[in-house]
Amino acid sequence: MGEEGRDYTLVADIAGVVSGFVVCQCVVGELSVHNVAVAPGAQRQGLASSLLRRAIAEAGKEAQRCLLEVRASNAPALALYRRLGFGEDGRRPNYYPCAGGREDAVLMSLESGAERERA
Ligand SMILES: CC(C)(COP(=O)(O)OP(=O)(O)OC[C@H]1O[C@@H](n2cnc3c(N)ncnc32)[C@H](O)[C@@H]1OP(=O)(O)O)[C@@H](O)C(=O)NCCC(=O)NCCS
Repeated sequence: MGEEGRDYTLVADIAGVVSGFVVCQCVVGELSVHNVAVAPGAQRQGLASSLLRRAIAEAGKEAQRCLLEVRASNAPALALYRRLGFGEDGRRPNYYPCAGGREDAVLMSLESGAERERA
């Protein structure tokens, strides 16, 4: 735990191989998702969903909501977050550098207790 907040870093280990991780930090009641990634061979098996749900559950009552930013072009991540119940709050125009120049950051949030179960 740093002075700025409590860290929630979870790693998915499948048969001794790191297959995914999520890095979050809770500051004054808000859980920020800094990164989440799953190895290509382990994707579409619910791993990122499980990691995010677990981090949100561990933050528990300390976090009133969960926040993140994602590239507007990152369709898999946007689909993941929407599936979990995150809503879009706005955009930071031209926030990220990309091959074609710049692209927007999509700002998303999830209120505590609003996450969706896997259908
Ligand atoms: C985004 C990422 C973390 C998703 O991990 P994952 O373990 O495959 O995600 P899940 O299996 O939990 O997916 C849950 C749901 O998200 C959506 N989803 C996930 N990947 C998707 C894809 N490639 N295309 C469309 N929808 C996708 C689907 O609705 C999926 O449910 P379904 O498989 O039943 O259709 C993974 O693709 C990844 O590591 N990408 C590179 C790193 C990255 O972009 N991280 C996000 C930074 S903001």
